[in-house]
Amino acid sequence: MVLANRRLSFNHEHMFRIEQDSNGILITNPKGYNAFTTVFFGGRRRHDRRVAAVSGAAKGQRVLDIASGPGALVAALADRVGPTGEVIGIDAACEMVDYATAHAGRRPNCRFQCGAAQDLDLPDASIDVVTCTFAMHHIPEDERDQALAEMWRVLRPGGRLLLADMAAIGAHSRLTKLLSRHMDPAEIDIRRYRDSLRAIGFQQIEYSTVKPATGVLTALRPA
Ligand SMILES: C[S@@+](CC[C@H](N)C(=O)[O-])C[C@H]1O[C@@H](n2cnc3c(N)ncnc32)[C@H](O)[C@@H]1O
Repeated sequence: MVLANRRLSFNHEHMFRIEQDSNGILITNPKGYNAFTTVFFGGRRRHDRRVAAVSGAAKGQRVLDIASGPGALVAALADRVGPTGEVIGIDAACEMVDYATAHAGRRPNCRFQCGAAQDLDLPDASIDVVTCTFAMHHIPEDERDQALAEMWRVLRPGGRLLLADMAAIGAHSRLTKLLSRHMDPAEIDIRRYRDSLRAIGFQQIEYSTVKPATGVLTALRPA
């Protein structure tokens, strides 16, 4: 896995500025990352609106987006929860947090903070919906269960979790395979977390896909 990550870094670091630190594989060039994802998704807005809808986030709710990057999904979630709701984005790269604060963070119902998925600075049972997209494979493998446990901890009973990562589906499957060619395909398959989620206590664990190339796992923290 470590080797696969090193290769990923080598391939993308010129565009994303990828830095490995103790929290994980951080991306410190928000503009480069934005440019890449805009091309890959053919514009992110539609994709993120779809992911936000699958999350089940609703008016007035409090949502946490972990490893929020430049804040594109946070913006889509903010539209769903409306002015009476709140969306918090957390990323271990403070460059991402600064960029997201200056852009998506202009909305009054969004805020961003630096922090690691494995050690969330939020109270227990304080969040209605947690999302984490394209980021589980950035967290050190031996700390991912801890990150999932943190998601459970901050979710209120009855709260929902959404995890997502690239999936080789439809017209994008060749491109997705090309981009992830130096990774073990199992590394980005979001379904790999089903057993861990079940062991923590999550229920209604369901897999779906969002076009053009995203695999989504949703789960419920039972009430
Ligand atoms: C591929 S980007 C995904 C960004 C965003 N979620 C999206 O959908 O575009 C992965 C993000 O995870 C962040 N990251 C890496 N390890 C992390 C950790 N342990 N905790 C929080 N964020 C982390 C990186 O800095 C980067 O912004």
